[in-house]
Amino acid sequence: MNRPNDELNPTSIPASASSAPQARRSWAFQLAALGLTLVSALTGLGLAYLLKSPASQAKKAEDEGNGILARLFPNWGKPDFVVLLSAQQDGYMLPCGCSRPQVGGLERRYNFLQQLKTEKGWPVVAVDLGDVMQKRAPANLPNVQGLIKYRYSMMALKEMGYWAVGIGETEAGALARIEGEWAANSSQPAVLLANLKNAENFPFLQATQTQTVPGTNLKVGVTNLIGPTVAGHIKDPAVKFTSSVDCLNEQLKKMRAENVDLPLLLYHGLATGRQEAIRCAQAFPDFPIILALTEEDEPPAHPISVDHPQSGTRNYVFRLGQKGKYVGVLGVYRNGPNFNFKYQLVKMGEEYETPLDQKANQPIVRLYEDYTRELKNKNYLKEYNQAMHVLQAMNPVPGLRNPGDGMPHYIGTEACKKCHEFAYEVWKASKHSHAYQTLVEAKYPSLRQYDGECIVCHTVGFGYRTGFANDKDTPKLKDVGCESCHGPGSLHAKNPENQEWRERMNLPWLAARKSGNEQAKNAAIEKFCVGCHDIDNDVNWVHKQGKDPFLEKWIKGKIIHNNPPDKE
Ligand code: HEC
Ligand code: HEC
Ligand code: HEC
Ligand code: HEC
Repeated sequence: MNRPNDELNPTSIPASASSAPQARRSWAFQLAALGLTLVSALTGLGLAYLLKSPASQAKKAEDEGNGILARLFPNWGKPDFVVLLSAQQDGYMLPCGCSRPQVGGLERRYNFLQQLKTEKGWPVVAVDLGDVMQKRAPANLPNVQGLIKYRYSMMALKEMGYWAVGIGETEAGALARIEGEWAANSSQPAVLLANLKNAENFPFLQATQTQTVPGTNLKVGVTNLIGPTVAGHIKDPAVKFTSSVDCLNEQLKKMRAENVDLPLLLYHGLATGRQEAIRCAQAFPDFPIILALTEEDEPPAHPISVDHPQSGTRNYVFRLGQKGKYVGVLGVYRNGPNFNFKYQLVKMGEEYETPLDQKANQPIVRLYEDYTRELKNKNYLKEYNQAMHVLQAMNPVPGLRNPGDGMPHYIGTEACKKCHEFAYEVWKASKHSHAYQTLVEAKYPSLRQYDGECIVCHTVGFGYRTGFANDKDTPKLKDVGCESCHGPGSLHAKNPENQEWRERMNLPWLAARKSGNEQAKNAAIEKFCVGCHDIDNDVNWVHKQGKDPFLEKWIKGKIIHNNPPDKE
């Protein structure tokens, strides 16, 4: 922990090749763009964004302390202010996952921000790109909790003093619901979207937010744009977008009229792949700082820089990975008529976790508790429809299940015990047998046994017909039981001699098993395990050289329960 990480070394963004300082506040926003290629003919830009290390760096600041922050920001001196950048949280309010090390989460972000404010005393302007809302629920569940998580996330961002949060693809597809869930009741942080047609239908949206940074006389402006590719993904016919180029020119004009010193652009286009965000940077040198989308989990330590030889300026395109695992800190230093910048990418690791004795009073932890209590009180578990399990959808076995017999249902692990003593003992000794209790005992937040996004992997058959519903109606279906892997077993238990049903009890890996190829069978079983032991919830299930996580877990982890040879 707290170990300086090479990749995360503080970055003094390299100086621009040639730079032409010009008078402040004399921008000429004369951008002419040619369609989507966004080529600009720029003349007479006012502010030049020089990217040299600030003069103050020369004399090493004595006030840097020796905590984590001193190691993160050595030689930063005192910036006039910093911009905290975050993006693409995708519903991950807590650090994602069930196994350590966990990265991300709003609680840690809050603690980090507090440290910047109190330990460093730096004024902070916090902005989020958007896609705060969950795109998909875990483990193929329907996205029942997406909206409520959005509300609590926005409450957390408010608690952190965020200035502005962009609307991204997920939110743009749900504007009316967002308005009802959150925006109608709160004006802070500002919710930004500049290029929506018929924006008047959604009065909570703002095109641009401008504000003077407290403790300085510098004004920051933020705007947010959904680029053409992302716009194309939004299927709601009521949500249409205006021309990006016209829109950005207009926002820049507004910012100039309001004497904005530093304009920030949140841009929903990829800075990789089709490079839409880069083309935007090329066309709009007046936005020195652009935060764009990315598809990678782990973001790069440095932004992409785009030079503008004509004006001798340069702008930067930042990206922050997914799931809110990282934040970016941009140090802003006034240098005569120009700005200098420094940048540090910060991984939200365990060093920012709240100490245990302070957990109960941590504001974001309290929000987490409110969230799980609301899930319980409003009985969110009931909101999940029960789908057909593949065994329930399969054709009836002749002679075993006649139409009208009903489909196979879940009967619970104890019902398998009497005929499968050995498998039962193995299972009982494994962690699978108290997976539900783990949720009951969970703290900060508690009440996880009422959260569908947890119980889906910690119970039997949640989300399927006759599967786990709640602790009162289905007490036998707690934990990761036999039927979590083998499927609903009522017909097999009633008719154990029926060969076809017996086989079906091994359906997910049956074909590979029949092939007689041990490796193929293991691969098929592993594929099934990682449906729950996925990258979020078991970060240790990774193939490293010389290590097979499946065999580690299946055999060494004592999950394997094939009948011992003497019983065969
Ligand atoms: C009434 C007794 C009985 C009950 C109850 C019972 N089984 Fe079985 N099961 C058998 C018999 C007998 C076999 C065949 C011999 C063997 O493989 O042990 C079998 C076989 C199996 C097989 C291996 C199938 C194959 O072809 O390799 C699985 C998997 C299985 N049972 C799962 C379960 C599960 C899960 C439950 C509880 C939902 C359960 N059984 C309940 C009697 C039962
Ligand atoms: C339905 C979801 C689910 C499936 C499928 C599943 N697991 Fe698990 N597994 C869990 C949960 C949840 C825990 C943690 C239980 C606890 O401690 O509360 C766990 C814990 C474990 C553990 C102990 C902790 C560890 O990681 O060392 C092992 C070993 C394990 N599982 C192996 C497997 C193997 C092998 C498979 C596939 C044959 C598998 N699991 C399939 C949900 C699942
Ligand atoms: C996609 C499946 C999945 C979901 C969803 C899931 N879990 Fe887990 N959980 C697992 C697996 C698999 C493990 C075992 C991981 C390991 O040991 O490495 C586990 C382990 C845990 C553990 C650690 C148990 C121990 O003994 O260390 C806790 C606590 C836990 N989960 C809580 C939760 C909570 C709270 C949620 C909901 C926010 C949740 N889980 C959602 C699959 C899941
Ligand atoms: C984590 C997933 C998982 C759980 C939980 C689980 N099983 Fe299995 N079980 C498997 C897999 C995978 C196989 C296939 C192994 C093979 O073919 O080598 C299997 C095989 C079996 C077999 C066939 C054994 C043999 O010798 O061929 C039986 C019987 C069985 N399980 C019963 C049960 C019972 C009863 C329970 C609950 C007490 C249970 N299983 C819990 C995954 C699971």
